[in-house]
Parts: sequence; C-alpha cells; structure tokens
Amino acid sequence: MRTVKLAVVAALCLAVSACSKDGGSSAEAPADAPASAPKVTDAAKAAALAALPAPYNTGDLSNGQSKFAFCRSCHTITEGGPDMTGPNLYGVFGRKAGSKPGYAYSEAVKAAGFTWDAEHLDKWLSSPREFLPGTKMTFAGIHDAKDRIDLIAYLKVETGYKPAP
Ligand code: HEC
Repeated sequence: MRTVKLAVVAALCLAVSACSKDGGSSAEAPADAPASAPKVTDAAKAAALAALPAPYNTGDLSNGQSKFAFCRSCHTITEGGPDMTGPNLYGVFGRKAGSKPGYAYSEAVKAAGFTWDAEHLDKWLSSPREFLPGTKMTFAGIHDAKDRIDLIAYLKVETGYKPAP
C-alpha cells in the first residue's frame, strides 16, 4: 500500500512539473509555429470576412472557430471532406437544404424547401429542433446571438461562400 501511495505522489509531481511554464513553452514553440502551409492565408480570410454582408463582416473568426468545436464531432467543413453523423458542410451556403448527394437526411430536412443562407442558418443554430421539427441533428442550439454571428462568419470564410455579384 505504501509503495502505491508513493507511486501516485511521484506521478503527480511529474505531471505538475511537465505543466510548468518554463519547461513547456520553449519546447512547444517550434511545434506550432511552422504548421503545414495553410491553403488560404490569414490575410485572404480577413479580406473574405470584410467582404461579408453586415453583421457578418464584424464577426470574430477566432470565436467562430472555437464555437465550431460544438459541430466538429459531427461535421467536416473542408472541400471534399467526409460525411460523418452529419453531412460535410463545404459549400453549404447557397445549397438547398438536405441536398448533398450521398448523405441520408431526415424527411424534415429533405422537405424543408429552402436554400441555406445566413438567416436560415441563424435560426437553425439557435435551435435545430424548434426550427425544423423532426430533424435528426441532435444539437441543443447556440443561444448567444453574437456567438451565432461569429460562427456563421467563420463558416462563410471556411466553406467557400461567394458573395452574390
Ligand atoms: C450530434 C451531431 C451533430 C452536431 C453536434 C451538429 N450537427 Fe449539424 N447535422 C447533424 C445531422 C445528423 C444533420 C442532418 C439532419 C437531418 O437530416 O435531419 C445535420 C445537418 C446540418 C445542416 C444542414 C446541412 C444540409 O446539407 O442541409 C447544417 C447547416 C448543420 N448541420 C450545421 C451544424 C453546425 C454549424 C453545428 C455546430 C453548431 C452542427 N451542425 C452540430 C448532426 C450534428
């Protein structure tokens, strides 16, 4: 028993020292710095953001990205990305609801009859099941309006949205 206790204490000490700032930061800095060259540069994303219709042009992309954490267990957003529990969302703006080939939608979404734009997405994301009863997207919703704006701006920038000419 005594040895077990000692082992636990030793493990805790190791864990704590591994988290200490000095050791960690200098070792980790090179790892995230030269990440594999992004296809779209930050400058291009900032320009795409600025070109969005209001209020999305004021969106906070980094907050949008962190809100996308709610979605990523079920959705990919990259071009040609796989369907998971939910369909791939690349090109979703301007796409008829429930129309991505190869994905098995619920009747509710198939019959929705609208095309995805920011306004529909805003209602959908505040409560999918109130907006489209019968959907199989089991997601409670994002209740903060500003979070929805930031997430929609992020999705527009990331999923190939093109403003109407
Ligand atoms: C638990 C899994 C899950 C989570 C989390 C989730 N979704 Fe979904 N999503 C789905 C499913 C399943 C569908 C298909 C719904 C249907 O057919 O009724 C869907 C459909 C959609 C659609 C409609 C796509 C189309 O082609 O018509 C959009 C847009 C969408 N989700 C966006 C989001 C966003 C943005 C988030 C994060 C805030 C999110 N979803 C979180 C599972 C999820």
